[in-house]
Amino acid sequence: MKIKTIGVLTTGGDASGMNAAIRAVVRTAIFHGLKVYGINRGYRGLIDGEIAEMGPTSVSGIINRGGTILKTIRCPEFRDKKNQKKAVENLECYGIDALVVIGGNGSLAGGAALYYNWKVPVVNIPASIDNDLAFTDYTVGFDTAVNTALEAIDKIRDTATSHDRVFVVEVMGRDNGLIALEVALASGAEAVLIPEIKPDIGKICRLLDKGHKRGKHSSIIIVAEGVMSGQDAAAEIRKRTKGLEVRVSVLGYMQRGGSPTAFSRALAARLGEAAVVLLLKGRYGRMVGVIGNKVIATDIKKVLRTKKTIDLSDYKLVGVLSS
Ligand code: F6P
Repeated sequence: MKIKTIGVLTTGGDASGMNAAIRAVVRTAIFHGLKVYGINRGYRGLIDGEIAEMGPTSVSGIINRGGTILKTIRCPEFRDKKNQKKAVENLECYGIDALVVIGGNGSLAGGAALYYNWKVPVVNIPASIDNDLAFTDYTVGFDTAVNTALEAIDKIRDTATSHDRVFVVEVMGRDNGLIALEVALASGAEAVLIPEIKPDIGKICRLLDKGHKRGKHSSIIIVAEGVMSGQDAAAEIRKRTKGLEVRVSVLGYMQRGGSPTAFSRALAARLGEAAVVLLLKGRYGRMVGVIGNKVIATDIKKVLRTKKTIDLSDYKLVGVLSS
């Protein structure tokens, strides 16, 4: 099938760099003579027909903006085949031959449903602050989230040092500790708790006590939200240590916003272009990712079946560097 018209949407939790990805998709498509439609509010907008044509100027001045101009939503109702059918009818109604979906896990599941159930040519671009998709070293938005968290933690360290306090900093990461791990390494945190490793608060307390005895009075402990809340971790540390002042900072949604880093933007540009080229080559049902600096396309089902693993040596390194 010769593709003449494509649609683009963003879905799931927003990630900084989604706009850069939209821009890359729209501009690449226009470069290749395609017509482009933007679908608002992710799969919900596809079901409801919130669709409008985009031109080169629709994406002017957005490369440096966080969030997504196409808006986004979590749409569990897209699992329902009746809703998928409505979405497919809308695509037909607008003459959209193929779709680029930008987002995380849920967006891949939706892409797989459209491709495998309804034969809609789909290519996914991984965008999520969590970096929790296999077959790509990085997702769009991860680097920005890490840098945003890092900037905040550097500031927290100033007050922690001044007051001789222990700070527990809770970062995002529902199912994995990739943000926590990266941020722990980059901020020089004393310890990190991630969902992939059973939490050992006793060990952290021993480390803090040892540090205290040799005159180290402030520490940063990073906790991924998927393990336990920062408040719970702090309460446990307070209970088990004597005399240590423990405070908590929950970084929360600030990690999702802000201007994307150069890395997030350049990744979005590369993957946006690759997604459109893949559609033109007739290679559908794939996610484009970057593995060892190369853009690689992987079958969506394979990505969904595979859990991204963390690098245990990174986890150990946090311990080595804090001893
Ligand atoms: O998927 C990214 C993420 O930021 C997670 O780390 C976090 O737990 C979740 O989204 C929050 O999602 P919501 O926007 O639905 O509150």
